[in-house]
Amino acid sequence: MDRALNYNNKIVRYFTIATVFWGVIGMLVGVFIAAQLAWPALNFDIAWLSYGRLRPLHTNAVIFAFGINGLFATSYWVVQRTCQVRLFSDTLSMMTFWGWQAILVLATITLPMGFTRGKEYAELEWPIALLITVVWVIYAIVFFGTIVKRKVKHIYVANWFFGGYILAVAILHIVNGAVMPASFWKSYSAYAGVQDAMIQWWYGHNAVGFILTAGYLGMVYYFIPKQAERPVYSYRLSIVHFWALIFTYMWAGPHHLHYTALPDWTQSIGMVFSLILLAPSWGGMINGIMTLSGAWHKLRSDPILKFLIVSLSFYGIATFEGPMMSIKTINALSHYTDWTVAHVHAGALGWVGFITMGSIYYLIPRLAGKTEMWSVRLIDTHFWVATIGIVLYISSMWIAGVMQGLMWRAVNSDGTLTYTFVEGVKATYPYYVIRVGGGLLYLTGMLLMAYNTYRTMRNTVSEDARIPTLLPAHA
Ligand code: HEM
Ligand code: HEM
Repeated sequence: MDRALNYNNKIVRYFTIATVFWGVIGMLVGVFIAAQLAWPALNFDIAWLSYGRLRPLHTNAVIFAFGINGLFATSYWVVQRTCQVRLFSDTLSMMTFWGWQAILVLATITLPMGFTRGKEYAELEWPIALLITVVWVIYAIVFFGTIVKRKVKHIYVANWFFGGYILAVAILHIVNGAVMPASFWKSYSAYAGVQDAMIQWWYGHNAVGFILTAGYLGMVYYFIPKQAERPVYSYRLSIVHFWALIFTYMWAGPHHLHYTALPDWTQSIGMVFSLILLAPSWGGMINGIMTLSGAWHKLRSDPILKFLIVSLSFYGIATFEGPMMSIKTINALSHYTDWTVAHVHAGALGWVGFITMGSIYYLIPRLAGKTEMWSVRLIDTHFWVATIGIVLYISSMWIAGVMQGLMWRAVNSDGTLTYTFVEGVKATYPYYVIRVGGGLLYLTGMLLMAYNTYRTMRNTVSEDARIPTLLPAHA
């Protein structure tokens, strides 16, 4: 019997479908709020459709729903194959699935209702935050339990990244989640003033470092070698990459609080560690891209590989831009402007989105017992539509951001401001419209993916009934 039949693929299939589903929802809300910024009347004077409530719904849906469902799917797939054992517990892993979806449904209801802790990326009120803790502990038990019962001595590097992400998120969530409940849907932070801000951005930046980076690097180190059919370019570098990255990320949070009440030396430490971060980030990116050595020709015909490799290019862009923006004098120009939003989406759409899509495209046919996706051409169309969408999104926001920064700081010879704020808003309008166009293209790509997934998975034969030879070789 094919060894793959001993793995728990059902749970991976559930999380994979959830990733595609929530991807559509999160991006739909993204396009809607982008349109609201261009045409504010789209809030229809309904409180729960207002920008302030839907924006956190967007960030929660794309990061915690699309992003983390993708990480559940891939980490469960990878840990089984690289440890050559079935998941630690089928029941516990199923609990992570339903628990996580329940959290996402609660978020979708409570955020538009206006229940929020008011901390970016940690908006969900304390009852939901408690539920997150429970599900996360179960996730850790399943993941590390599988590592413990592994049949191979070595722990493959992708598991270090997934493991680092699971542990770090647990610590971040618990420390930043310390609150005093005032009622069922209202709580106050356990910290005050500038300490609260520091804890929040230590959390916020490491959410970027450990969810939006380390977790996805786990995907890089498994799916790129698999799809390219080449070993990791330098395994030694991947280990250095891991330790350098997790050590450095932890100190960079203060770059979110430049020129605030945070002590100046703390801001400088944040800046210095952000600059250092360029080295492990680019080392990892180069390691991933060089894995294609000798297989570059595959990029011409394999759209999945295109997603995977182009994601690393965007990772390179975001991790070059980030350290630059952390330099205080540059941050004085970029902060509060759409430049930050351009940086975010170079990372979010290009890096996080593409590496997830590439990995999920790898998984879907294997989970459906097919040799490839229903339509490979549609994957290619998805790739190009989404790439054009990203370029429109980030270039319009770069231009808008630098323009805003320059307009806000322009002063006349008598010391008065050259532009009123509303002049800056008016000048930004065309770029907001272009962003809606870019977002629509990206969403269209996601819809194509959803359709392709449906067609590929439609007649999935149940695991037990499957003829082993139908399964492509993996592990
Ligand atoms: C169709 C695709 C998308 C569109 C149109 C879109 C649009 C937007 C808009 C309009 C904002 C608010 C910007 C502002 O307040 O000025 C935003 C914020 C944000 N989005 Fe997206 N988004 C998309 C996809 C994604 C994805 C896939 C991710 C993550 C994986 C993501 C992560 C974020 C984050 C983290 C923020 C907050 C940025 C900040 O606070 O600076 N977005 N998005
Ligand atoms: C070497 C790596 C990186 C460094 C040093 C870095 C640095 C920065 C800096 C300086 C800001 C602006 C802070 C401000 O003015 O408010 C920022 C914002 C942000 N970055 Fe990065 N960045 C890096 C990589 C990434 C990657 C790969 C992503 C993935 C999506 C990302 C996501 C974000 C998000 C979501 C924000 C907005 C936070 C907010 O205000 O809500 N960053 N980053």
